Amino acid sequence: MSDTTTGGDKAITRDRLITLLNEDLAREYQAIIAYVIYSQVLKGAEYMTIAKELEKHAGEELQHAITIAKHIDYLGGMPTNTPLPVVQAGKATAMLRADLDNENNTIRAYRERVRQCETLGEYAIAEDIREILRQEQEHQTDLATALGEDPPDVSRAAKKK
Ligand SMILES: [Fe+2]
Ligand SMILES: [Fe+2]
Repeated sequence: MSDTTTGGDKAITRDRLITLLNEDLAREYQAIIAYVIYSQVLKGAEYMTIAKELEKHAGEELQHAITIAKHIDYLGGMPTNTPLPVVQAGKATAMLRADLDNENNTIRAYRERVRQCETLGEYAIAEDIREILRQEQEHQTDLATALGEDPPDVSRAAKKK
């Protein structure tokens, strides 16, 4: 009995999936913190609508974190207690840009995670991540719109840091 499955050119295992889901969880914590802070410190009449949206995002990111932690526990792992670092930005556009960059990375990661879960036959986890992904794409659209841009194409796997 092996828990190793080959998905395309890369092998994915349950252990590797736990590690990757913990990276996702660290990213969800980062999103919660960023949205809590930015929703409250954004100033200026033109940003009031998006500030309200960011407050709503914070609550959704918390639900994502709980869902991801649940699946890490289900797979036999221990959910991480450490967020990715949050950019301390002063300008409204810098805050929105940081949020948009994070959402882009999150969307790339979850698209890959859905494929990996399916490779392992973890269809229920894949289903939950699909629902999270749907919300992350709404977040991405909200942020791009607030910045006066089209949502970026994140279909390339390469990550810019
Ligand atoms: Fe999220
Ligand atoms: Fe998000």
